[in-house]
Amino acid sequence: MTSTVNKPATRGRLTGSMSEERLDEILALFEQRRLGYSLDAPFYTDRDIFAADMEGIFGKHWVFAGSLAEVPEPGDYITVDFGPYSLIVLHNDEGGVNVLHNVCRHRGARVLTESSGTTGNMVCGYHSWTYDQEGNLVHASAPGEVDFNKGCFALKRAHSRVVAGLIFVSMAAEPPEDFDEVAKIFEPYLGPHEISKTKVAYQQQLIEEGNWKLVMENNRECYHCDGHPELACSLFPTWGLTEETVPTHLADVWQRNLTAESDLRWRCERYGLPYEVIEELDTRVQGFRISREPLDGDGESFSASGRRLSKKLLGDLRDFRLGRCSMHLQPNSWFHFLGDHIITFSAFPVSPGQTLVRTTWLVADDAVEGVDYDLDELTHTWKQTNIQDKDFVELCQRGASSPAYEPGPYMKSEYQVEAFINWYVQRMKEHLA
Ligand code: FES
Ligand SMILES: [Fe+2]
Repeated sequence: MTSTVNKPATRGRLTGSMSEERLDEILALFEQRRLGYSLDAPFYTDRDIFAADMEGIFGKHWVFAGSLAEVPEPGDYITVDFGPYSLIVLHNDEGGVNVLHNVCRHRGARVLTESSGTTGNMVCGYHSWTYDQEGNLVHASAPGEVDFNKGCFALKRAHSRVVAGLIFVSMAAEPPEDFDEVAKIFEPYLGPHEISKTKVAYQQQLIEEGNWKLVMENNRECYHCDGHPELACSLFPTWGLTEETVPTHLADVWQRNLTAESDLRWRCERYGLPYEVIEELDTRVQGFRISREPLDGDGESFSASGRRLSKKLLGDLRDFRLGRCSMHLQPNSWFHFLGDHIITFSAFPVSPGQTLVRTTWLVADDAVEGVDYDLDELTHTWKQTNIQDKDFVELCQRGASSPAYEPGPYMKSEYQVEAFINWYVQRMKEHLA
């Protein structure tokens, strides 16, 4: 579904206060970027580049905000903040989703201050201007005001799309059109897991002291997976490697992965589920990668044995042993869809050196905690993994702040990191030029 925006997005406003010379300097840094190497330090630390990122990436592309499971009933909302933006994502009475800027049209106060909740009309806490769920200003009493036209002061809207239960938002006046093509590709992979019949089992909000690009870079490789002992029980640590690059100490794991892969393919063909890797990370505006890949052990879930963590199958799936359907989307998200649960991840930039990583675990809506799943067991692997990743990201942020830092080479197994950075550099060069 698409909503109409009231006004073009804030293109130019975030970098508008910078001098031409400063913008030229920033553009030159993008032009100088050495292929195959990490970025220069200012990309991770500089306030002006952060402002440019918010304008050129988060202000212009589709951003993953959350899922329908987070707003299951009419009136349910989440607020989503990144950089200077704050949005209200609200389940409306017609069953759709309204995305409204969380900025009061009186003097700009945040209208909703909680990260989630249920609301009827939305009342700004400052002078009680009141908006309906469509964002229309319905009440603004003030002594002596007689000819005040409320119709001119609705909350501003952003674009939205809901695909396979995932909610995407865009602040652009004209959001990238190729998102619809990409959505047609990934919907058949994710659709059978039926997010609309899931509920949130747990959500973790983790502030990482690192630039948003370091968070994304870290997510796009498994070169560091020795640092994830819990995850490595089920996610083959050979991910990202090839026959040529797999090290000898992982030869057994590689063979096990091949066997699990052929078993998974057989199952997918039996159930009519797509599984092929489709990867267009830096060759289109809406960069993405999707695949269905096996898990180790029992092949069902992210547990130590690979065994299911929730007893209830999702959607109309007929088998738990379906590995993980994993998707990477530029600029800020990644996902694992399993037979028994789904995990969504989003990275929301806070400042040049700080990023909020929101992780949400979804289970079948009729799964009962303590009966069908144990919450600690369900969340253990990725809670541990997220903490380990946070440490890696923070180590890199501290390194990037040192005068001794200089860009280092990405290894072959880090090709997706390179693809993410390529995508970022291309998109920003186009924006700044
Ligand atoms: S700023 Fe919202 S009512 Fe005044
Ligand atoms: Fe990691």
